[in-house]
Amino acid sequence: MANVAVIGAQWGDEGKGKVVDWLASRADIVVRFQGGHNAGHTLVVGNETYKLSLLPSGVVRGKLGIIGNGVVLDPEALLSEIARVTAQGLKVTPENLRIAENVPLILPLHPALDKAREAARGEDKIGTTGRGIGPAYEDKVGRRAIRLCDLAEPETLSAKLDELLLHHNALFRGLGAPEFAKQELLDGLLALAPKLLPFSEPVWERLAEARATGKRVLFEGAQAVMLDVDHGTYPYVTSSNTVAGNAAAGSGAGPDAIGFVLGIAKAYATRVGSGPFPSELFDETGRLLGERGREFGTVTGRPRRCGWFDACMVRQAVKVGGVQGLVLTKLDVLDGLPELKICTGYRIHGETVKYLPAAFRAQAAAEPIFETMPGWAGSTRGARSYAELPAEAVKYVRRIEELVEAPIVLLSTSPERDDTIMMRDPFAG
Ligand code: IMP
Repeated sequence: MANVAVIGAQWGDEGKGKVVDWLASRADIVVRFQGGHNAGHTLVVGNETYKLSLLPSGVVRGKLGIIGNGVVLDPEALLSEIARVTAQGLKVTPENLRIAENVPLILPLHPALDKAREAARGEDKIGTTGRGIGPAYEDKVGRRAIRLCDLAEPETLSAKLDELLLHHNALFRGLGAPEFAKQELLDGLLALAPKLLPFSEPVWERLAEARATGKRVLFEGAQAVMLDVDHGTYPYVTSSNTVAGNAAAGSGAGPDAIGFVLGIAKAYATRVGSGPFPSELFDETGRLLGERGREFGTVTGRPRRCGWFDACMVRQAVKVGGVQGLVLTKLDVLDGLPELKICTGYRIHGETVKYLPAAFRAQAAAEPIFETMPGWAGSTRGARSYAELPAEAVKYVRRIEELVEAPIVLLSTSPERDDTIMMRDPFAG
C-alpha cells in the first residue's frame, strides 16, 4: 500500500477538508508538512463541525497526527484549537499528536509585523491572513527562528531572543510600530514550555518506524500550488512550498515515502487575497457561484473571488505539483447554469500562451481564452456513480481531465463525506 499526499491544485479552499477526512479514515498517520494556522479545514462528522487550522485532520478520526518541521507553529493558536476541539468531545494528547522538535514557532511579533507590513503596502497589499506566516518563515531561513526544542533550553532561548529582537525591533522602528520587550516574550515562552514540550519529538524517527512497519501515511497539504512561494503567482503567494515535494522536506520522510500525489481542484475557481486571477468573474454568475458554493474564507471570513475553471493553471499545477490523480469537488455548484466556460489559454500582450508566465506584468495582463460548454438541467448533488450524472456533466468532467492532463480519480458531489464517486483508490498506489 502506498502513502498519499494531498495538495491543492488552485489557490486553496478546494474542499481539501472533506477529501482529507475521507482519506484520513483509511490512514494510520496524518502529517502536516507546511503552512500554519493560515489554513482552514472544515470537517463535518455527524452533528459536529470541526474547524481545524493546525491540527492534522486525522486527529478527528482517532488517528495519530504529526505536525512536521515544515510548518510554522503558533503555540497560542495550537493550544486554543486543542481547547476548542476538546470542548467538542475530542481528546488531543501526546498519544495522538506529535510535533517536530525542530518546528519554528510563530511569536506575537510575527503577526504584528505581518499586519504592519500589509498596512504599509496600502493598495499593493498581498492580502495575507495576518497570522504572521511570512515573517516566521523569513526568520527560519534567516537562521534566527525560535524552534520548539529551544523551549527546553532557557539560556539558548534567551540568547536567541536577543538576536531576534535586534532584527525585529529595527524593523518595527522603521515601520513606526511599537517595539517588543524581551522579558515579556521570554516569560511567555517559558510559561508555554510545559504545555508544548510533551508533544515534541524527532518525528522523522516515528515516520521511519511507520515505514518499516507498513503503516499508511497521509501527507496533508495546506494552501495550494498557485500559492506556492516558488511556483505560484509571486509575490501574491504564501511563504512555503505547497507542492508535494515538500512533504518530504517538511516532515523528515524521504522523497520516496510520499507515495501517490492527489491534487484537489474545484469544478470552478476561487481565490482570497490579492493577485492575478485571469478567469475571474465580475458578473451575476460570479456572485451566484460565491453564494451557492458558500465561498467565504474559513480563517478570515473574507468573501472569495470566483471565476470559471482555469484548465491552463490547473495543468501547470499538475505538472509542478507532481499530481498523479485529481479530485474534482463542488461539481453540484454548477448545476442548472445554462452554459459553462473553461479557460484553455491566455492572451498576453497580443500573444497566445498555454501557461501563466512568472513575470509580474505578464501575469497581470493575462486575458483568458475560454471554451464554452453546455450546462446541465439535472442535479449532480449527492451522485455516487457516473451513471447518476447528467450527460453534459460527464462531458464537462471528461473535458477537464483531457485539458489538465491528469486522470480524475475522485469526484465529490456534496459536502457529505460519502457523496463521492471513486474511480481509483489513491492508497492502492
Ligand atoms: P499568508 O499565508 O497569510 O501569508 O497569505 C498569503 C496569501 O495566501 C494570501 O493571498 C492568503 O489569502 C492566501 N492564503 C493563505 N492561506 C490560505 C488558505 O488556507 N486558503 C486560501 N488562501 C490562503
